[in-house]
Amino acid sequence: MAEEVLTALRPQPQGRYVDGTLGGGGHAARLLDASSPTGWLSGCDRDGVAIEAAKVRLTEHYAGRFEIRRGNFAEMADWLPGASFDGVLLDLGVSSPQLDVAERGFSFQQDGPLDMRMDHRQGVTAADLVNREDAETLANIFWKFGDERDSRRFARAIVLDRAQRKFETTKQLADLIERLAPRHGKKAHPATKVFQALRIAVNDEIGSLQRGLDAAVAILKPGGRLAVITFHSLEDRMVKLFGREQTRDYTFTGDVDVPELRRARIPELRWVSRKAILPGDGELKENPRARSAQLRVLEKI
Ligand SMILES: C[S@@+](CC[C@H](N)C(=O)[O-])C[C@H]1O[C@@H](n2cnc3c(N)ncnc32)[C@H](O)[C@@H]1O
Repeated sequence: MAEEVLTALRPQPQGRYVDGTLGGGGHAARLLDASSPTGWLSGCDRDGVAIEAAKVRLTEHYAGRFEIRRGNFAEMADWLPGASFDGVLLDLGVSSPQLDVAERGFSFQQDGPLDMRMDHRQGVTAADLVNREDAETLANIFWKFGDERDSRRFARAIVLDRAQRKFETTKQLADLIERLAPRHGKKAHPATKVFQALRIAVNDEIGSLQRGLDAAVAILKPGGRLAVITFHSLEDRMVKLFGREQTRDYTFTGDVDVPELRRARIPELRWVSRKAILPGDGELKENPRARSAQLRVLEKI
């Protein structure tokens, strides 16, 4: 969604931008290009391999105009100055290089270690969760982060199965789920949701996004824009709720909004487009993985 991101963030030569999810540096390169000759980019990614790839790619054309740091975007306000950026991009989820390298353990389509860590310095792998957690905890992970309707059945079967042999590989887990829920001609692999849920849990993606949204608001200048690309409904709902709360001119305590108990306040953000922006047909043809992408854009007031 590079074109849509550029339209949203409106890069300018005097602008300062943050890419919190550098990946291979594709969006970062477009931002630097569109803000030539003097626009600045601060980028980060949790993945050391992505950081090296982005460094090589960006140094070739934009040396001296960017800095790169390995880390979680949830913490970007700790190392970037407050109220000083014109645009922040978060392009969530996994990158193609992460999915395509079997050793990273993200994919049920290739056999590899059941790992799924975006940052290898972090301790807990998907195998640790699958081999250690009780059935209820696993079922909650599959349900909460994967919307998996068979979460309890799958979790119980995993606990039974691991008593014979610990889970070590992606194929072991994918095969078990496929035995429990044969495909019957369906397109999606039956382990899709379980793998998504484990990845979200291993990388604390929901907690990171919550803190990352707050951090983005802290580092944006008034008039600066936040663009977030999500890939599943849980993330998109979080961004939508965050936007809804931050664009309101009142707050309320508790879970229920009682109009008489509202307290007035000045909103921090406004929606640039209230509806999610979806990839165009051209992009979908070129990159089928973009089919579930949604872009939301907010502006700091
Ligand atoms: C979809 S890819 C980004 C692709 C990138 N926009 C490009 O053009 O190449 C997502 C990237 O975000 C990184 N990532 C995900 N969550 C992160 C987080 N909380 N902090 C930092 N990086 C994160 C992943 O490691 C991955 O490299």
